[in-house]
Amino acid sequence: MSQTFNPPAQHIAIIMDGNGRWAAARNLPRSAGHKEGAKAVRRVIEAAPALGIKFLTLYAFSTENWSRPKEEINTLMDLLEKTLDEYQKSAQKQNLRIWVSGEREPLPPQILEKIDRLVQSTAHYDGLTLNLALNYGSQQEITHAVNALIAQGKNHITPQDISAHLFQPQLPAPELIIRTSGEQRLSNFLLWQAAYSEFYFTPVLWPDFNEEELKKAVLEYQHRQRRFGGI
Ligand code: FPP
Repeated sequence: MSQTFNPPAQHIAIIMDGNGRWAAARNLPRSAGHKEGAKAVRRVIEAAPALGIKFLTLYAFSTENWSRPKEEINTLMDLLEKTLDEYQKSAQKQNLRIWVSGEREPLPPQILEKIDRLVQSTAHYDGLTLNLALNYGSQQEITHAVNALIAQGKNHITPQDISAHLFQPQLPAPELIIRTSGEQRLSNFLLWQAAYSEFYFTPVLWPDFNEEELKKAVLEYQHRQRRFGGI
């Protein structure tokens, strides 16, 4: 029997996990793991277009991450700010369009300003779309959609209505969701959009993730059988 392969995934979403463990294994502070994690983000963004990836969603900060120690939150916000500055400079050359999924409150105003500027100034680029899940929680996203529909006076809603009111309604559902560091759960990430996603779990810690690891995930996805409830 001949085997058919899936075309490359257009939208890949990644739960970037293991920064803390990467640092602990080297007796370094957790902040060093996050800094190295930001380098892995760069590598993946650079490698994605050649692999046929059009949309990349990265779980950069969850609504639950606010419960981390203040110092670690500050490190993550600093890194994020630096990263936004970097993309502001490099997006044109990389033809990178930036979208953000998440709630604005309680992100600091200087981050919100940078996000707004970046989203606006990259809106017309048509290479890779990088969707940063920032202050993101999927239950909150679905609840937000339902509340928007209630506010419109709807008393009967369809799955299509909910999809149309997610943070980024134009974003196709991810064909593939990757989680690094050996953990195997969704952690409030894309619960609605993951209905038919393939999952790829790797023990590689996020700071060690690179083009080779991304290629492995893409190839494995291409060999998966997707049936969408059919046979
Ligand atoms: C999980 O590792 C990672 C995060 C909570 C944040 C992800 C952030 C980055 C990859 C760096 C910056 C990103 C951008 C887009 C600038 P963990 O701290 O939970 O690791 P652990 O489970 O080993 O403790």
